[in-house]
Amino acid sequence: MPYPYQITSLEQYHNDYKRSVEEPETFWADVAENFYWRKKWDRVLEWNFTEPKIEWFKGGKLNITENCIDRHLEKLGDKPALIWVPNDPEDRTRIVTYNRLHKRVCQFAQVLINNGVQKGDRVCIYMGMVPELSYAVLGCARIGAIHSVIFGGFSAQSIADRLYDAQAEFIVTCDGAYRGNKDIPLKSIIDDALIGNRTIKRVIVYTRTRTPVSMLKGRDVWWEDEMEHAEAQIEKDNVITMPATEMDAEDPLFILYTSGSTGKPKGVVHSIAGYMVWTNYTFVNTFQYKPGDVFFCTADIGWITGHSYILYGPLSAGGTSVMFEGVPTFPDAGRFWDIVDKHKVNILYTAPTAIRSLMSYGLDPLKGKDLSTLKVLGTVGEPINEEAWHWYDDNIGKNKCPVVDTWWQTETGGTLITNMAGVTPAKPGWATLPMPGVQPLLVDENGKEVTEPNADGLLKGNLCIKAPWPGILRTTYGDHERCRTNYFATYENLYFTGDGALKDKDGNFRITGRVDDVLNISGHRIGTAELENAINMHAGVIESAVVGYPHDIKGQGIYAYVIYGHMHGDEEQTRKDIFQTVSRVIGAIAKPDKIQFVTGLPKTRSGKIMRRILRKIADGETENLGDISTLLDPGVVEEIKNGKL
Ligand code: WT7
Repeated sequence: MPYPYQITSLEQYHNDYKRSVEEPETFWADVAENFYWRKKWDRVLEWNFTEPKIEWFKGGKLNITENCIDRHLEKLGDKPALIWVPNDPEDRTRIVTYNRLHKRVCQFAQVLINNGVQKGDRVCIYMGMVPELSYAVLGCARIGAIHSVIFGGFSAQSIADRLYDAQAEFIVTCDGAYRGNKDIPLKSIIDDALIGNRTIKRVIVYTRTRTPVSMLKGRDVWWEDEMEHAEAQIEKDNVITMPATEMDAEDPLFILYTSGSTGKPKGVVHSIAGYMVWTNYTFVNTFQYKPGDVFFCTADIGWITGHSYILYGPLSAGGTSVMFEGVPTFPDAGRFWDIVDKHKVNILYTAPTAIRSLMSYGLDPLKGKDLSTLKVLGTVGEPINEEAWHWYDDNIGKNKCPVVDTWWQTETGGTLITNMAGVTPAKPGWATLPMPGVQPLLVDENGKEVTEPNADGLLKGNLCIKAPWPGILRTTYGDHERCRTNYFATYENLYFTGDGALKDKDGNFRITGRVDDVLNISGHRIGTAELENAINMHAGVIESAVVGYPHDIKGQGIYAYVIYGHMHGDEEQTRKDIFQTVSRVIGAIAKPDKIQFVTGLPKTRSGKIMRRILRKIADGETENLGDISTLLDPGVVEEIKNGKL
């Protein structure tokens, strides 16, 4: 049985799309009817993009965990909600049924209450990919606390910045996390982040690696002790009672930090009802999920993909979601295929960078792996090159599984432009058509809609969206003006994505990449300004400029041009010192791939760095660097070209 709002034919897609644009309020009300509301909304949509103010299902009352868990218990109580696959294949897999998930989430919600967490409080979660991370996220949602998950690759300094920005008073973490053959000492990183901190009241520590941790009296408590205590409070005679807090549709659900073109990451805020409807609707339609299917999204819950398509989308649909603790190449490059085989995965959702990395191991890791349960394949995070697309289609899907190329962003909550598996046509390298409710258009620098095709018959421009869909961000935490200037002020009355795109005569979109100073490294967004700030913090660095360059596996690599004062040791040692600084300031995920020492940077007379030139050089271009006569010192270009790494 399809879901009532599931699109099952191309014709229905066109009809639903049309209706979603012509009468959005009745269209989304019909979808929203399929959720559990304590009280229905008064108004489906109110908005303007000038403030911006966006309100969906205003006046509605609900709790998202009742939609993700409680309402499924009667029919699906014993069905797996999460299949947890540990880093080490020798370790025990854990099947978390809806009943078990209910109990654990209630228990942890009680733990939060016992530790003084109240509705609206911000709880920072810094954990590995263990089931307890899901209980922590959903436990927050159950009592209306705002979760802010921080990916395990961020440094103590990054955590401290985020804690401060979110004004968080509570942290949930692990002693350590396993990732491949590495142990990451999460609690000790948290301890570094908290040196001198006086606002954090409680740190709850789950034991995963049993690495030695320092537990500060009065501040740090063990997850296990707290859970045991809470169990007695929420369970009597095998009945679990832990009421969910009634929330307003527009109350914030979570904050997730993401990089932009300025130096400081911004806290993207999603609100409850719209995000719930959007993640559910896009999950069911993009992947054509059918009850009983096993869905495997390989992302980390530290990113939006994990929030939307490991937890909220699949769970709100009563689905079964695989949560994987490890990495694609541990213990070997056949790990994904083992998981697909063992757990009879029907839908696999991963990133181009993972596909390219696995491609480089050839077909041996696929030998003996039964992938016949697969029905749908998906990708997300960056443009997928055709070679990787075909490899995925041929060798994983055996040309029987539609490949969905899903374009979206942290700010959009769920997929916006994508084909729908088997329903709308795929086109390799193209994200294709907008979801119902999404009205994309391409504009030129002046915000004028592009209507004239280029020589290839394609429209080319900056990708904007005309009207809100339920999953759009509502604000950036603590700084609404920043939300306005970042997304709604570049072009009047439009949401600007920061991406460039092409559009063909059939209405398909192809995303070409960021048009702002943001890099996409292995599907992770990182701003050049943020990187330069980090590099410039290193003693000895006088100035730096960072650009992206094409990288076979990562999609983009980080190329840093650095003006350095006096070196202690040789260039190679100095590079390592700079890496160390960047790891401290941002985290290991921001490590530059290449550092070229230069004596000057190409600047205009007004002092602006000409990144265009640096990008071309990093890309291996030596001839057509464009007009360099306006540079303050054109001679520097020759030097940079000669020193290219
Ligand atoms: C940026 C958003 C959305 C979850 C993962 C990344 C790029 C994302 C695609 C795609 C081409 C893509 C865009 C976008 N991007 N998906 N299918 N094709 N580009 O989330 O960190 O918020 O980054 O990722 O440039 O703006 P994010």
